[in-house]
Amino acid sequence: MTAPSAPAWTPSSWRALAARHQPEWPDEAHVEAVREQLAALPPLVFAGEARGLTASLAEVGAGRAFLLQAGDCAESFRDFSAPAIRERLKIFLQMAAVLTWGATLPVVKVGRIAGQFGKPRSSPREQVGDLDLPSFLGHIVNDDAPTADARTPDPERMLRVYHQSAATLNLLRAFTKGGFADLNEVHGWNQAFVTESAEGRRYERIASEIERALRFMAACGIDIAGRPELHEVDLWTSHEGLVLDYEEGLTRRDSLTGDWYDCSAHMLWIGERTRQPDGAHVEFFSGVHNPIGCKLGPGASPEDVLELCERLNPGRIPGRLTLITRMGADRVAELLPPLLRAVRDSDHPVVWVCDPMHANTITTSTGRKTRRFDDILAEIEGFFSVHRAEGTWPGGVHLEFTGDDVTECTGGSEGVLEEQLDGRYMTLCDPRLNARQSLDLAFRVAELMRG
Ligand code: PEP
Ligand code: CO
Repeated sequence: MTAPSAPAWTPSSWRALAARHQPEWPDEAHVEAVREQLAALPPLVFAGEARGLTASLAEVGAGRAFLLQAGDCAESFRDFSAPAIRERLKIFLQMAAVLTWGATLPVVKVGRIAGQFGKPRSSPREQVGDLDLPSFLGHIVNDDAPTADARTPDPERMLRVYHQSAATLNLLRAFTKGGFADLNEVHGWNQAFVTESAEGRRYERIASEIERALRFMAACGIDIAGRPELHEVDLWTSHEGLVLDYEEGLTRRDSLTGDWYDCSAHMLWIGERTRQPDGAHVEFFSGVHNPIGCKLGPGASPEDVLELCERLNPGRIPGRLTLITRMGADRVAELLPPLLRAVRDSDHPVVWVCDPMHANTITTSTGRKTRRFDDILAEIEGFFSVHRAEGTWPGGVHLEFTGDDVTECTGGSEGVLEEQLDGRYMTLCDPRLNARQSLDLAFRVAELMRG
């Protein structure tokens, strides 16, 4: 007897499977109406761009480039303005410049931006003071205000996410292609409050060296003005593909190839809580042709990882699959090697990336969620040393940061103390590196890459 073959993939075939962490929308007909509206709207990205990112990630997989994937933990409907987007872009460009200069390797730049609105939560309910409320699930689902009304899921929010993502992406495209990301502007990305710090001064020195290198090339007769790669950057978008009603609504068939693409972002990743090989998220993302990421936490076994490779990249296309490991500073040396060996021996082409944030979250005695800079750095160091020992390529880092001067993670060269966390603790969800801590970390990662 032959096993019954699996039903064919369609943008809605995930609906037959268990989908974890989906909102309990109060009215199914309303969700369906919103999904139809999303399906009729223009795509946010197009298939050719997603293929371009796959090709760049294939370079990372081959050890010829490095991935910087970074941005907010959760984007917000409130913190949405040109300055907020610009300040985030500045620090991103600074980190990329530090890494490119320090390691003399191309850096593939992927933002957690223009779509990062859904949050899986460990508990469906949350205690706020005396109130027992449904958890905040990201602005794509409900509002963070602590009232039962605010916490009720509203599908109209998916349309607002679409429009905010479109406006964000438009400004990012304008900044990155219209002169702001020009290497001649490398000094201008340093923000006032960063310039005064040790890492800000260190950055100024690199910026001056880059300027000097440009002048040197010009003196050698290279036509600097005529080289677009010196004046523009490719900044790709990504988010966790969590709320499948939204992702399905933005999935389109490419007219050129006939393949399906999730046109909500260039790259989507599957979270640690939704990566079951027989679950809805893996089913959905197995059928779209974007580059896909998958988080791997401490519970991931070599068998799980190989099954995910087979499900998500049966054609073994280089650049298609990025595995984002988040094991914790104290466990990475023990948990990562078996996964690296299993994937290496199976000859699956993957990009390995370190998320040093999500397994290093602690709660202070006053109930604040935080992360220590030294733990974040220690997980990245462990990631590099394990890859070096196994002969695999430590392909990149996945970070949560903000361009603002917040106090959410402790430590770093400016030494944010636990008692200072209340000062400017602004995040909607997880604690993020502030601009100075981010730059500091970029210098450390560049050193590791050179080492
Ligand atoms: C995240 O990246 O914000 C997240 C929730 O991560 P993870 O799925 O790894 O817990
Ligand atoms: Co997070």
